[in-house]
Amino acid sequence: MDTAQKINTNAKDRILEFDLSSELNHGMVVSNLAYAVAEEMGLMKDQCYELAIAGMLHDIGKLKLTGYINGQESDPLVIEELKYVRMHSTLGYEELKGQGYSDFILESILYHHENYDGSGYPSNKSGEEIPVGARILRVCDVFAALSSDRPYRKAFEMGAVMELMIEEVKNFDMEVFLAFQRVVHQ
Ligand SMILES: [Fe+2]
Repeated sequence: MDTAQKINTNAKDRILEFDLSSELNHGMVVSNLAYAVAEEMGLMKDQCYELAIAGMLHDIGKLKLTGYINGQESDPLVIEELKYVRMHSTLGYEELKGQGYSDFILESILYHHENYDGSGYPSNKSGEEIPVGARILRVCDVFAALSSDRPYRKAFEMGAVMELMIEEVKNFDMEVFLAFQRVVHQ
């Protein structure tokens, strides 16, 4: 097996081993934190609640990835982890659209991987072009991911989490990041 095949096979294994309970736990952490950050930033109560819902659902598109991967089984070399994983925010948005969720919730989910400097996905939006709900989810999502155990690594300690986030601060809205820091230090 050559290196490319090996990488692709590992990528497939990781996505297929989607762990529902850790995804639900991640959703809950992001949900609670996003609510608190939105409140700290002075968003309206309704928006805070809606962001709590978006936090719970933001990665729901990952549930769809297994189907996409299976569709490619005849040609494993086509499978490339990033390309597929990067579809999850759009897949989640499409899944929830038309089910009665507000535009605020839907756009927060669709753009939760956009970076403030324009280097994110799916639309390379930057700065204030990114809806505020998505800018809040971005920070909370990274924090929740770094501060909990993942299948391939242990959780980072709080000090290391903050250092890693400061290194990546170009990805975040500074107003959101400062509100997030106030919430975490409380
Ligand atoms: Fe995500």
